[in-house]
Amino acid sequence: MTTPATTTRTVLEATGVTMRFGGLTAVRDVDLTVDTGEIVGLIGPNGAGKTTFFNCLTGLYTPAEGTISYRGTRLSRKPHLVTQAGIARTFQNIRLFANMTVLENVLVGRHTRTKEGLWSALLRSPGFRKAERDSEQRAMELLDFTGLATQRDHLARNLPYGEQRKLEIARALASEPGLLLLDEPTAGMNPQETRATQDLVRAIRTQGTAVLVIEHDMRFIFNLCDRVAVLVQGQKLVEGTADTVQADERVIAAYLGTPTDPTTPPGETPATTDDTGATP
Ligand SMILES: Nc1ncnc2c1ncn2[C@@H]1O[C@H](COP(=O)(O)OP(=O)(O)O)[C@@H](O)[C@H]1O
Ligand SMILES: [Mg+2]
Repeated sequence: MTTPATTTRTVLEATGVTMRFGGLTAVRDVDLTVDTGEIVGLIGPNGAGKTTFFNCLTGLYTPAEGTISYRGTRLSRKPHLVTQAGIARTFQNIRLFANMTVLENVLVGRHTRTKEGLWSALLRSPGFRKAERDSEQRAMELLDFTGLATQRDHLARNLPYGEQRKLEIARALASEPGLLLLDEPTAGMNPQETRATQDLVRAIRTQGTAVLVIEHDMRFIFNLCDRVAVLVQGQKLVEGTADTVQADERVIAAYLGTPTDPTTPPGETPATTDDTGATP
């Protein structure tokens, strides 16, 4: 096996990112980095600004302040150029082409990586047909990888919810990203599907794509992530390993409201990681 050329190169570097909607500052002065080979979690209560931060990273929103670089180069503010640079994403609200097949959805995700131009496509030149075959082969590999190969000809809208989320991941991977952003990938999944998604994210990392993931399922986050950042009211409150973040009282308070609130119902505390017997 070959070893990676570098082990700690920064993939994503966001510095001082601020995003406002009228009078509301949804993201305030947020710094975040993701290194090669890392899985980083982004958590925080509803409305904390997590999705807005993703939208800033991917060029959907233009932040009022801050800089965002991918592998040392400032990113364009145009979403398709961000994808071309190497950042792919999935959406909190699934965005698939409902009336296209599973395979076609993945092929759409490949278009930023195919070099054949419009005329080549219209004339169906040999180069175009070769590119098309290569794309289809790669798309099938991704469907195998995500466990959707047998559904290749099904319409996306007929897939169960959990598989639609997987298809979004397959489509995102089709652009061959160096960084994958996942916005609540396990929302609506049962525990078995969630566990499978955990394995899938690990496999994605193993294949050389760094991952930044937003998720409410704390077990998923703390099992999976090398590092976790907590966003509260648009600001980064804490960042560290799963253990550091779980032990931080400010995080608990942010999720529960006032820490001393006697009316807080039991069972609403953030879930802890799987018991792996690590405690001495
Ligand atoms: N396009 C928008 N226009 C105005 N306000 C927005 C927009 N998008 C998000 N917001 C507001 O920004 C805040 C952060 O939202 P969001 O990023 O969706 O939070 P999260 O993903 O952490 O739940 C919320 O108060 C939300 O209402
Ligand atoms: Mg969100």
